[in-house]
Amino acid sequence: MKNILVTGGCGFIGSHTVVELIGAGYEPIIIDNFSNSERSVLDGIKKITGRSVAFYEGSVEDKKLLTKIFNEHQIEGIIHFAAYKAVDESVKKPLMYYENNVSGLVTLLQAAEEHHVTSFVFSSSCTVYGEPDHLPITEVSPVKPAVSPYGATKQTGEIITRDTAHASQNLRAIALRYFNPIGAHPSAAIGELPHGVPANLVPFVTQAAAGWRKGLTVYGNDYDTPDGSNVRDYIHVVDLALAHIKALEHIARRSPGFYDFCNCGTGRGSSVLEVIKTFEDVTGQKLTYHIGPRRPGDIVQIYASVDKAKAMLGWETTRSLAEGLEDAWRWQQTLTKPS
Ligand code: WQD
Repeated sequence: MKNILVTGGCGFIGSHTVVELIGAGYEPIIIDNFSNSERSVLDGIKKITGRSVAFYEGSVEDKKLLTKIFNEHQIEGIIHFAAYKAVDESVKKPLMYYENNVSGLVTLLQAAEEHHVTSFVFSSSCTVYGEPDHLPITEVSPVKPAVSPYGATKQTGEIITRDTAHASQNLRAIALRYFNPIGAHPSAAIGELPHGVPANLVPFVTQAAAGWRKGLTVYGNDYDTPDGSNVRDYIHVVDLALAHIKALEHIARRSPGFYDFCNCGTGRGSSVLEVIKTFEDVTGQKLTYHIGPRRPGDIVQIYASVDKAKAMLGWETTRSLAEGLEDAWRWQQTLTKPS
């Protein structure tokens, strides 16, 4: 049984990946400090899989804790989700982002090397591309200067992971560049749990539909896109979780020193207004929204070329935007509004 350390394993993508790891016969071990997740997620994982998962509360920056974990488990692989991910927050608190996202990665990789870990999957983001010159965006598209400290931490994280793998006698690594993860597990036992007012579109939509939020704003409809609103590649979180299983399988076939990266998207772009319309169609919930000013830092449109992921991992998405929105709504209906 391959032991896989999942950092941030109680988070949105992490928890869905833990479920799929168990389904694929791996033994996940979670480390999470609940900075952007809840302990209750462990119950949701157990509800789906029928079993508990080894769990350690803490940060990847805690070298003593990492040593304890590696001494108690023969860790063969690591999937590294634990990172801060709010673009606007990163602009206000860059050092918090560099410490957690970059310094934390270095500490984790040092422990991985000391304990001869052989597989490493790095959670990266389409943010590394910035504003695309061509669409769909491919992995040979230029990585432009980051427009936020968050984006810079992902670009830097890829470089650190690459150079560590290239120099390693044991490590093989892949960086997955996520597009926009949405949805929830169809069981509605786990899903997205944004802290405070959601910055992201889909959780704001589901909370607005649930009556938790007023004032759903479409940040601009005067862009050079078919309906004037921004276009993104919304990928179902379960499809994204399955990409990590495929990444581990690919790494297992490669030799130490291997590093590569690929897009994780659907290959289809959807506009903000399309997301709203699709949500109303699949849920029957009428949304009230208004057109507001553009949001600083938003890129106009981006969606993935999925050819490399198909060729390298033998992976592609199978779930639609409608399914993602339907699953997100089913999950939202299980939640009670925080006081
Ligand atoms: C999507 C679109 C908004 C909210 C973010 C992170 C990125 C990545 C994915 C981690 C945009 C519009 C949003 C709202 C709106 N995360 N919108 N009203 O910005 O594409 O990417 O999540 O890697 O790093 O930046 O996602 O969901 O915030 O926005 O109109 O209330 O929805 O303008 O066009 P984004 P998002």
